[in-house]
Amino acid sequence: MSNANTQTFDTEQYPFINKGLEGIVAFSTNKSFIDGQKGELIYAGYNINDLAHNVSFEEVCYLLWHEKLPTQAELDELNKELVANRALPQPVLDYIESTNSEASPMSVLRTATSMLADFDDDAEVYTDEANMRKAIKMTAQMPAIIAAFHRKREGKEIMAPLSEGSTAYNFLYMLNGEKPGEQAEKTMDLCLVLHAEHGMNASTFTARAICSTMSDIYSAITGAIGSLKGPLHGGANTAVMNMLLELDKDADINEFVSGKLARKEKIMGFGHRVYKTMDPRAVHLRSMAKGLAKEVGMEYLYEWSETILKTMKDEKNIDPNVDFFSATVYYSMGIKPDLYTTIFAMSRVSGWTAHYFEQFANNRLVRPRALYVGEKNLPISQISDR
Ligand code: ACO
Repeated sequence: MSNANTQTFDTEQYPFINKGLEGIVAFSTNKSFIDGQKGELIYAGYNINDLAHNVSFEEVCYLLWHEKLPTQAELDELNKELVANRALPQPVLDYIESTNSEASPMSVLRTATSMLADFDDDAEVYTDEANMRKAIKMTAQMPAIIAAFHRKREGKEIMAPLSEGSTAYNFLYMLNGEKPGEQAEKTMDLCLVLHAEHGMNASTFTARAICSTMSDIYSAITGAIGSLKGPLHGGANTAVMNMLLELDKDADINEFVSGKLARKEKIMGFGHRVYKTMDPRAVHLRSMAKGLAKEVGMEYLYEWSETILKTMKDEKNIDPNVDFFSATVYYSMGIKPDLYTTIFAMSRVSGWTAHYFEQFANNRLVRPRALYVGEKNLPISQISDR
């Protein structure tokens, strides 16, 4: 390896590197706006605090795709299309049946989503109408993939989708094998609303970068799923729950957090590249976590979370992000921790596809540069001399 400090940098042409593309504005968008100082999140003109509890996930999908809230007739039509597209092609179900039960649900979701393209006659049709049909299909089918994999690994029958009900309702039915109650459906629907869109995060950037090569929407979403999987991004919600489950009931939470910080370890579900205050989605999830944990007799989970929050604020002045309280919400609903990131993905597919449409309509190839810090023009020695 060469020593970067001894190399000649092309500092005139590239005076600095924006590691992690921090502070770089690469696209314009109508899809969402974040004010990280105020803790404000807007989806296509509407504040998340107004959308939460007032509109369904399907209305949010429509909003992100069409940049306006739907009329009743438009919403009915979208719901009809979502319901009609829920069933998975048999080869995708066969793949799910053949998976290793120990596989990561995000890996299975990534592979199965990619497979969907093989069974879509529109896969290589690039009109706006075809792209919209494909966005609706993926939004309808991703919940079916997640639920089917979970039931297969538990040795349970894979449920056929319902021909009625919301995305949240059908997902909980396909996951648990029984129709959910009103409260569970509402909770899941709100989680989907809160996770649908969030500016130029890593997975959305991935989707747009793939789109910018004029590749197809299945490729863009497959790549985005891979990007979301990492623990610094969507994978944090599973990591939060694993962290909470590691604690025992008598644990000293302050000591646990301080110890981690002293060892320079991260507390999952905290910190954000953009927010410098509480993530507004975390505000909603916090109150949901409080109510649900109480309802199922797991108040300790919520109390631990509050203690972690206070210690993080006192010691590092860092606030929780969307992933911190969502873990307690899903756990209280009886959902297995390794599925949490897949639930994030089945919501965020609406934002990813919305960004795909936007990029496709006004494209420029995403092609940044890297500053070469290696050596140059080394002589090639004989292989026997190396
Ligand atoms: N726990 C402890 N310290 C933290 C945390 C954390 N969760 N997050 C940031 N910090 C500290 C860093 O150690 C660093 O401190 P230092 O300056 O003393 O070295 C400082 O805050 C800045 O942190 P960076 O990691 O450099 O900030 P960046 O903008 O690159 O990171 C990120 C943002 C990746 C989200 C980070 O906060 C993190 O790793 N959080 C934990 C993982 C997580 O929850 N990810 C989900 C994010 S939300 C989403 O993607 C859906």
